[in-house]
Amino acid sequence: MQILDGKKLSKKIEEYVAFETKELKSATGRVPGLAVILVGNDPASHAYVGMKKKACDRVGFYSVTHEMPENISQEAIEETIKMMNQNPNIDGILIQLPLPAHIDTTKLLELVAPEKDVDGFHPFNVGRLTTGLDGFVPCTPLGVMELLSEYDIDVKGKNCCVVGASNIVGKPMAALLLNANATVEVCHIFTDDLKKHTLNADMIFVGAGVINLIKEDMVKEGAVIVDIGINRAENGKLVGDVDFENVSKKCSYITPVPGGVGPMTIAMLLSNTLKAAKLHVKEEA
Ligand code: GUN
Repeated sequence: MQILDGKKLSKKIEEYVAFETKELKSATGRVPGLAVILVGNDPASHAYVGMKKKACDRVGFYSVTHEMPENISQEAIEETIKMMNQNPNIDGILIQLPLPAHIDTTKLLELVAPEKDVDGFHPFNVGRLTTGLDGFVPCTPLGVMELLSEYDIDVKGKNCCVVGASNIVGKPMAALLLNANATVEVCHIFTDDLKKHTLNADMIFVGAGVINLIKEDMVKEGAVIVDIGINRAENGKLVGDVDFENVSKKCSYITPVPGGVGPMTIAMLLSNTLKAAKLHVKEEA
């Protein structure tokens, strides 16, 4: 069994992004800029945004976080997005999810200029992804594909089982795998007999938010296991959706939590923001 080391690869990608940022700065005088919208007091969201901001600082990006109270109005967030769409120093706009219940999330995501949509959540970019066109791809599944590529794991013709069908992870993960010629099954909360599906899979991609959802008896010998879950266990430790201790004895490759997919998500946010900045520079030329 080999560990898919996302921490190591994310450092390599950060070094590349930092280098490219320096080059861009010396050629154009500007650096990539990321605006983050953070609403309310959810501790996990604050922790994620903190990590994203630190990563921006490490690679030399400009970044700004718009922190808003839980009871902020829809209109006030919309105004901020419109401002960021117009701001030439901002290349990427990220709305940290989830948002409070009174906010219309879909409407906000659709308001982000598609060319600044570094999270890849705008229907324009979702459509480009499903049709196999270039665009912005959600950071977590994009990070998974980079990690597989780093270890020369080809998904072509493989039976891939995606567990969890969220817009952020499961659906774009399935689209990327399909674009790379895998045979893809998507399981979700209403799937009958999950084990039947996972046992047939050469590769399992799980992002369901359920501790120990994938157990040893649900995994084929030699399968590749990608754990996209992040959960807080009772003892306070971060754990994924896979019973790592037992499943790791049976599989060929596995991502640890932490240190697997998580750092790759942040690395891809940097990479997408750099891509947006380069596109904007080209447009201005
Ligand atoms: N909430 C959980 N994951 C994500 C993500 O990748 N992007 C944003 N914006 N919010 C999230």
